[in-house]
Amino acid sequence: QWDMNNDIERVLYSEQDIAEAAERVGKQLAADYEGRTPIILSVLKGAVLWTVDVMRHMQYAEVEFIDVSSYNGGIASSGEVDLVTDLQTDIAGRDVIIMEDIVDTGRSLKFMIDLLMERGAKSVKTASLLDKKEGRVVEATVDYIGFDVPKAFVVGYGLDYKQLYRNLPYVGVLKREVYDPAHADVVDTVDITPEH
Ligand code: PRP
Ligand code: MN
Ligand code: MG
Repeated sequence: QWDMNNDIERVLYSEQDIAEAAERVGKQLAADYEGRTPIILSVLKGAVLWTVDVMRHMQYAEVEFIDVSSYNGGIASSGEVDLVTDLQTDIAGRDVIIMEDIVDTGRSLKFMIDLLMERGAKSVKTASLLDKKEGRVVEATVDYIGFDVPKAFVVGYGLDYKQLYRNLPYVGVLKREVYDPAHADVVDTVDITPEH
């Protein structure tokens, strides 16, 4: 029936697990940035839920948004990262904390770190809900990690498949028949493909 939870094979990180990780990372950031007012840079769209949950545990901080996209849609990733929407503030001399939902190849993160350093940021650190280290293609270090995640098709809590599942309160593994049509005939699935 019309229930996203049915598309999930298994839950990897529960709502409770994530709340604990957000508190742990947020409190660590509050301690590490004591006496400073960092700019929290949330990466649209995946990092939105993680950003708001972590920042609740922090102290004085500004929040900004940036939208970058890497062309990972095809079979082989082109490796190009595109700046879709730039942030609207001068970050020269500022301490910036990039908030990500997942770091995989590292291309998006490296692109943003290079951009911010080029613009004269005083410091750039990264806090990511998930660190998929096995996926790394370029060097990019996550300083604050929610969870080290194995290579699997994960969705939820910001992470999407075709723009859906971001609003699940947990992170789970998507059932194969949802994204692989070859397996769709064995199970009854709801057609979730948007019309456009
Ligand atoms: C995803 C994810 C990270 C990035 C990680 O974003 O949210 O931002 O890819 O991949 P990488 O380490 O291989 O660069 P995506 O570009 O899909 O946009 P979204 O956040 O709007 O889903
Ligand atoms: Mn993203
Ligand atoms: Mg995405």
